[in-house]
Formats: sequence, C-alpha cells, structure tokens
Amino acid sequence: MSRQRPLKLALVGYGQAATLFFDAFAPEPEVQFRWVVGRLQEPADEFARQRSIPRATTHLAEALDDASVDAVIVATPHALHYPQALAALQADKHVVVEVPMTMDAAQARQLVQEATARRLALSVPHISRYLDVNLAARRLIQAGAIGPVYQFVYRRLWLQRTVGHLFNRQRSWTDTVSWHHAAHPIDLVMWLLDEPIACVGAALRHDPQSGSEVDLSANFVTPSGTLVTMAMSYNAHQDYLDTLIVGDRAVLEITGFSQLKQAGVTVVAPEEALQVQGRAYRRYAAAVAAGLRAEAPIPISGAEILPVMDQLQTLHDKAARLAQTPPVQESVR
Ligand SMILES: NC(=O)c1ccc[n+]([C@@H]2O[C@H](COP(=O)([O-])OP(=O)(O)OC[C@H]3O[C@@H](n4cnc5c(N)ncnc54)[C@H](OP(=O)(O)O)[C@@H]3O)[C@@H](O)[C@H]2O)c1
Repeated sequence: MSRQRPLKLALVGYGQAATLFFDAFAPEPEVQFRWVVGRLQEPADEFARQRSIPRATTHLAEALDDASVDAVIVATPHALHYPQALAALQADKHVVVEVPMTMDAAQARQLVQEATARRLALSVPHISRYLDVNLAARRLIQAGAIGPVYQFVYRRLWLQRTVGHLFNRQRSWTDTVSWHHAAHPIDLVMWLLDEPIACVGAALRHDPQSGSEVDLSANFVTPSGTLVTMAMSYNAHQDYLDTLIVGDRAVLEITGFSQLKQAGVTVVAPEEALQVQGRAYRRYAAAVAAGLRAEAPIPISGAEILPVMDQLQTLHDKAARLAQTPPVQESVR
C-alpha cells in the first residue's frame, strides 16, 4: 500500500501497553491517533485529552465505523484480543494485537486466516526481539561466537497479583504466567536459535481464587538438540529475570531487560528497564509504520507467531494431562 496521507490509528485500551504504544508511535512522522477505545468513558476521555487524541469511546464499533482509520492497536486484557482483533479485521483494518495473540491456538489461526483472506496486516509485538540484549545475543549466536548451544535456561520470577508490572498500575483483570508471560521466552528461544522448539513436559499451578496460571515449569527441545528449561512464577517476593545460553565455547548470560555478558564479560551494560522497553517499542512501531506504508515487510506477523501459539497450546495440554495423573493430583492443579 503506497500512502500519500498520514497513517490513522485507533488504540484499544488506555493502560500500560497502550501508553507504551502511544509513546512509541507518536514520534513517527505521518502517524495520527484518531481514537482511543476504553472500558470506561471517563478514563478514556482523560487518556485522549492528555494526548490530544480527538475521539474517545467505549464502543469499539464506533472507531471501526470510521473509514479514515487504517489500523487498530489492541492493548486490552488477553480474553479480548481475539474478539476485538477479529472485529477490526472484519472491518478491513490492519491490526496490531498485544501478546498473547489469543487464548488458544485455534483462535490465533482464525485471525491469521481472516487477515490473509482480506490482505490485511496482522502483527504481534513480541518486543523482546527489539531489546538491545537480545539483538546482541542473536548476533553472537549467529556468528558462532558461543558454538552449538546445549542448554537455554530462562527464569522469570516476581510477585504479581492484581497490579501491572511496568507502571504498578492496578488492573481490572487477572494475568496468566503461561499464556502471556511464557509466550515471550517461547518466541525468544525460536528467534535467537533460529529453530523451532517442541514442548516435552510442563506443569502449571493455578491461583485458587482466579483460576489463572501463576507458576510454570516447562521443558522443550530443538531439532538440533538444545534443551530448553523455563521456570516462571508470580509468587516470588524477589524479582529474577535471567537467561543462560550454554554454548560449546561460552555461556551468554542475560540479566533483566538490559544486561548481557559473554563468558562473564559485559557486552551490553545494564540500563533502566522502562527506558530499554520504550526503545524496543519505538523500534517496533517504526517497523510497523514502514510495513503499513509498504516500505518494508510487516514485522512479527500473526502467521510467524503461530508456532508460539502451538507450543503454548501443547504446554497447556501437557500440564492439564499431568494434573489428571493420580500421584500429582493433590499438588499440581
Ligand atoms: N508485548 C509486551 O511486552 C507486553 C507488555 C505489556 C502488556 N502486554 C499485553 O498488553 C495487554 C494489556 O496489558 P496492560 O499491562 O496494558 O494492562 P492494563 O494496564 O490493565 O491495560 C488494559 C486496558 O484495557 C482496558 N479495557 C478493559 N476492557 C476493555 C474493553 N472492553 N474495551 C476497551 N478497553 C478495555 C482497561 O481498562 P480498565 O483499566 O478500565 O479495565 C485498560 O485500559 C495484555 O494482553 C498484556 O499481556 C504486552
């Protein structure tokens, strides 16, 4: 699509991710936010007023009826991603839908089919791919700097109840460590190693009140034989976020969102988390804007994320089967 006029966007949600998207897209030349769509009118009005977005509504259909809107950014609770993204595609809008793309693999496939049939862009912001540490790690792995990779060990443990992690904002919904937070490392491993992965075992613990997944242990293998281990929790009173990539020649160690060491030597120095995440969202926004203007391919397409959704589905299916197994029934539910 060759564009002569500004790209016009509707933003669905006024929370953490919506704020990151606004800040990332706003500096792009020839991009205008036309609508913000929220759950409640007052905060939607306030979000729009603070950012000079001309229209705010609680009805997605109103924004979708606006023929001037080119693309819709869905930054709402997970369960809304599928119906809102589908409605936007059916209204002939390009779509960016936050992670997790949907809450099961079949829905993700339906979105990809809808976008393909209508020749619309569908993109999923797996922002990890735009973090400096991961870009540097990928370059080192692809250059053969650490040799063949034997193990990939990912830990993300923190305390998350009803408060969003980034801005400590109270949420009206409950997150899931598996569908949402495990989607990030699953995509990251495949992207860093340039190989598919297959889930070979998984266990989940659910919050007794909400039923949401709050603890996860999962193992994967790649065709070349890398063993992948993930341990994730919303129940840790201290924060841990690290990745060890154990190669034949050296270990890469990624700590937090911004520090990378190779064989114990700093390659990328630590920085404030929001700053590096903001920079990653800006890179992603620039790539999406270029894609929508047909100057480059659309980054991280829905089709590209289907293997992530398939692995998430397998992980949940395996964990559900494990929970049915008599010896573990009492401890893993
Ligand atoms: N890619 C990444 O790295 C990344 C980072 C952060 C978040 N995310 C994803 O982004 C999504 C949002 O997360 P968040 O942290 O931004 O949560 P959040 O701060 O709670 O924002 C969610 C927003 O959606 C609004 N909302 C709820 N129901 C709605 C409806 N029916 N129509 C329109 N808006 C509605 C909420 O309004 P109320 O507050 O009034 O309910 C809130 O403004 C999640 O799926 C999350 O996984 C991804």
